[in-house]
Amino acid sequence: MTKEEIIQNIRSLRKEKNAIILAHYYQDTEIQDIADFVGDSLALAKWAAKTTADIIVLCGVHFMGETAKILSPSKRVFIPDMKAGCSLADSCPADEFEKFINEHPNHIVLSYVNTTAAVKALTDIVVTSTNAKQIVDSLPIDEKIIFGPDKNLGDYINKLTGRNMLLWQGVCHVHEQFSLIKILELKENHPDALILAHPECPKYLLEVADHVGSTSSILKFATNSDKKQFIVATEAGIIHQMKKENPDKEFIPAPPEDSTCACNECFYMKMNTLEKLYLCLKNERPEILVDENIRIKAVKPIERMLEISAKHGL
Ligand code: 13P
Ligand code: SF4
Repeated sequence: MTKEEIIQNIRSLRKEKNAIILAHYYQDTEIQDIADFVGDSLALAKWAAKTTADIIVLCGVHFMGETAKILSPSKRVFIPDMKAGCSLADSCPADEFEKFINEHPNHIVLSYVNTTAAVKALTDIVVTSTNAKQIVDSLPIDEKIIFGPDKNLGDYINKLTGRNMLLWQGVCHVHEQFSLIKILELKENHPDALILAHPECPKYLLEVADHVGSTSSILKFATNSDKKQFIVATEAGIIHQMKKENPDKEFIPAPPEDSTCACNECFYMKMNTLEKLYLCLKNERPEILVDENIRIKAVKPIERMLEISAKHGL
């Protein structure tokens, strides 16, 4: 089958089955271009909660599919490749996180959306990188907080809010990989370029960034900026939308530490391909299923997140 035929078949199956294709900014460009909606992890959750489609194909990683299923249990949720995981979610097994919570009683538990449904079920409020600051700010100043699993995001939010949240020590393998030296060299060669970084990056990188924010925030910042050049320290997939919205600007992917490749990609995100998306719609698998007892517990902290986000217009 040619690529054009695959694209045509995806379009026909989507219509025939009343399916919606939601894609994260880190997906391959071809997937982003055929999706009904492309967004960050918060936006994908909001779409999953409100869609009237019968089927959601979540082109992203497993926790994103789970979040969609938790919010829309009556819909069938598929993901093109079931092995598309997340190193942050993997860094926080539910049994170990539960032990950590029990060792630190009287703390409210905040979890990054990059977690399994079982971890969300142990959580009071879920956050994404778009709303973490507003959610932490919404809590009483003397509230003791556990934050997991991303230590870099947690540390950054501690700095922004003046809190002292207890941090789980997880990291994202992609954002942990960026080379500060190579980024500073790029900056030397492009002195007018602004450095944009995702808060999953280590502190030393965030300190040299001109803007720190979620994928959607980075995109918005670049679009609203008068500057013409940007060094982008997050997964390189986001650059597709940046270029689409800003054809007159230049986006330089920040390089990883030890690789011959100039950009940094999440191999989990890149497991999804156009062909797998087609097969997924055609065969209606692999399907995301969430144990109902876990789902009932996990939906509460996600809904709390959506409520607080909505109050802040996010
Ligand atoms: P966003 O919430 O910014 O989309 O980030 C999700 C993610 O997995 C970043 O690595
Ligand atoms: Fe997870 Fe990192 Fe990939 Fe985002 S980029 S999905 S945090 S492994």
